[in-house]
Amino acid sequence: MSTIPVQPPRCVLLDCVRTATEAPSLHNSQPWRFRPRGAMVDVYADPGRRLRVLDPSGREQLISVGAAVFTLRLAIRRAGYRSDVNIFPEPAEPDLAARVTLAHAAAPSTAVRALAAAIGRRHTNRWPFAETPVAADILDALRAAARRERAVLAVAHPAGREAILRLARSADRWLRDRPGRREELARWTAGGTRHDGVPRWAAGLRDENDAIPTRDFAESSSEPRRSAPFEPYPTILVLATAGDRWPDWIRAGQALQRVLLTATWKGLATTPISQPLEVPWARRMLLDPATGLSVQMVLRVGYGGKTDATRRRPIAEVLLPGPHTSAMVPAG
Ligand SMILES: Cc1cc2nc3c(=O)[nH]c(=O)nc-3n(C[C@H](O)[C@H](O)[C@H](O)COP(=O)(O)O)c2cc1C
Repeated sequence: MSTIPVQPPRCVLLDCVRTATEAPSLHNSQPWRFRPRGAMVDVYADPGRRLRVLDPSGREQLISVGAAVFTLRLAIRRAGYRSDVNIFPEPAEPDLAARVTLAHAAAPSTAVRALAAAIGRRHTNRWPFAETPVAADILDALRAAARRERAVLAVAHPAGREAILRLARSADRWLRDRPGRREELARWTAGGTRHDGVPRWAAGLRDENDAIPTRDFAESSSEPRRSAPFEPYPTILVLATAGDRWPDWIRAGQALQRVLLTATWKGLATTPISQPLEVPWARRMLLDPATGLSVQMVLRVGYGGKTDATRRRPIAEVLLPGPHTSAMVPAG
């Protein structure tokens, strides 16, 4: 069936871009830029927003961009259009991570609407979760969400979970002494009037039993970090892809966001735990090499309290002007 390209009103596309900026990103670095033009949106990685100490290869930056790409696709779908995504469409432009092209109009399904409704409700939760186990059908839905984006999601069994958490704790300790890490963290937790970074209130609590190593975003603060016992048997998920190159990282980010939104839709709270991915020796130990898969993210999911949204930069800051358009954004 041939498709007729559509050109939605520019304000619809801008609204979808605004929604895409609600995606998660490493340290809330929001390392993306968007160029909407005609029936397409080009999504760029912003090299100036890469965390050079924690993320020297740019893997987590591209995962963050991939999460924004998925959110953009979903927003476009909710707006009533199908779209195609082309990853790294221009070899001469390495920062152009994805081109999302609107294909044709199609009413969103109930499932699309439910998933899209989770975009604004998904927030990283660094507080203790209830001890209630996550229902098997919800875990199936999360695995299916990853598969739809050509990734694999595994639920750690008890022994695996303990081994992953042990690795995460060791990686967290190893990272603490890494030259430049403290300054980099301070840069993204400075607070004030900024529209990016992780504010003090979002740092959550420290696990009193030191079992779950949530990242300490309050490290630079003079106030002591408050602690409480976290759930003793957390549900730990491992997201992996078949390859480990730039396009796989974008794919991993899309899968991550589909999994996170599906979890939010199903009433779960989520915490990415990426320290073991940031330490090469720990990353290698996360998965049996015989699987041929590369781990991209560790996630903790469970039943948690309500959390708030962290800030996002105004859309005018993330828009690149198209060849024949200005970056001017209508108010509101
Ligand atoms: C690639 C990536 C890695 C992340 N790693 C961690 C992490 O190790 N610990 C953590 O608490 N949050 C982590 N996050 C969550 C971000 O800190 C969070 O998305 C960002 O601060 C924005 O907040 P929000 O998710 O509530 O919108 C990660 C997110 C992404 C996309």
